[in-house]
Amino acid sequence: MKFFIDTANLDEIKEAHALGVLDGVTTNPSLMAKVGVKGKEAVHAHYKAICDIVDSDVSAEVLSTTYEEMIKEGEELAAIDSKIVVKIPMIEDGIKAIKYFSSKGIDTNCTLIFSAGQALLAAKAGATYVSPFIGRLDDVSTDGMQLVEDIVNIFENYGFGTQVLAASVRHPIHIMQCAELGADVATCPLKAIKMLMNHPLTDKGLAQFIADAKKMEE
Ligand code: E4P
Repeated sequence: MKFFIDTANLDEIKEAHALGVLDGVTTNPSLMAKVGVKGKEAVHAHYKAICDIVDSDVSAEVLSTTYEEMIKEGEELAAIDSKIVVKIPMIEDGIKAIKYFSSKGIDTNCTLIFSAGQALLAAKAGATYVSPFIGRLDDVSTDGMQLVEDIVNIFENYGFGTQVLAASVRHPIHIMQCAELGADVATCPLKAIKMLMNHPLTDKGLAQFIADAKKMEE
């Protein structure tokens, strides 16, 4: 399973990359606004800075919602760096835009997926990734992980090449459940990735080993 980090914060991306387990980055307009970039030039420069840190995919979301505008914006985003994946919302014009980008060999990530039918449609249009939002479904008392399972099964049934990118991941259990279900990618906050390391018995065991190692000193 690939690990993406879900942030536009350069320090967090550098920290995750330094761990040696990072496969890519996802951003969205909220995450970009959070780091304070304003205006097209600054936004594009920020995406370039992210691409310069990581080895692989960087999802950059279009801000427009009409077909023509999404094509123009997506092509501009894709021109920033070969690592850019154009992130497109799950709307009618978005499906058409995904089909267009697919025919041009430009990678896409269909975002705001909340049903298996939406994922099926995006895969039919040739999306590189679909992003089911687990945490936001859990927030409305709907099992987000069931959606991941349904999409994985449907894609397996028909051999779709579209990858399941579990998004809106909130904690380590989400990550482990995604891995068990066969999601291709989980995009996670840095905190959730780092929490995978934690276990009190590891801390206790290491403290004991350090104490015993001191006994061997001359
Ligand atoms: C990433 O592609 C999504 O935009 C992101 O995971 C959404 O996460 P949130 O529900 O925590 O905002």
